[in-house]
Amino acid sequence: MPALCRILPAFAFFLIITGTAAAQDAAKGEAVFKRLCGTCHMVGPDAKNRLGPTLNGIVDRKAGQVPGYAYSPANRGSSVTWGETELKTYLRDPRGFMPGTKMLYAGLRSDADLADLLAYLRRFDVEGKAADR
Ligand code: HEC
Repeated sequence: MPALCRILPAFAFFLIITGTAAAQDAAKGEAVFKRLCGTCHMVGPDAKNRLGPTLNGIVDRKAGQVPGYAYSPANRGSSVTWGETELKTYLRDPRGFMPGTKMLYAGLRSDADLADLLAYLRRFDVEGKAADR
């Protein structure tokens, strides 16, 4: 019995931790975005093109569509649609996926960071309105 008393609280704690982690994907993704993408990209209603284009509504959109942004020929000429798989492959190794892209970014290797980041980006529609989660 004493053993069970020690195991049960630990198990409950484990459930709380994993439950919270799943619920906070987009929140973690926001931190990843700010840390790794925010110097060059913006999202949200007031987003402007910086070194890179705004990323509002990027998930499932065709590449090279942001008005007023001067894309590289490699991006503009690609027939990529940014589904989750394409985004993950690009972000792991931008120039490996799209040779000639002018996104000079070394690549994000962490599967967890990529998943959180996409959960965050997926929230923004093309106008930069964020869906409630
Ligand atoms: C050093 C600046 C820089 C950083 C950091 C950076 N990017 Fe980019 N990104 C660019 C540039 C420049 C382009 C335009 C690429 C082109 O035209 O070839 C781009 C293009 C993109 C595109 C294609 C957009 C479209 O409309 O086709 C996506 C998606 C993207 N970046 C996502 C990200 C994400 C997510 C991160 C963070 C993990 C990130 N980028 C980090 C500069 C950057």
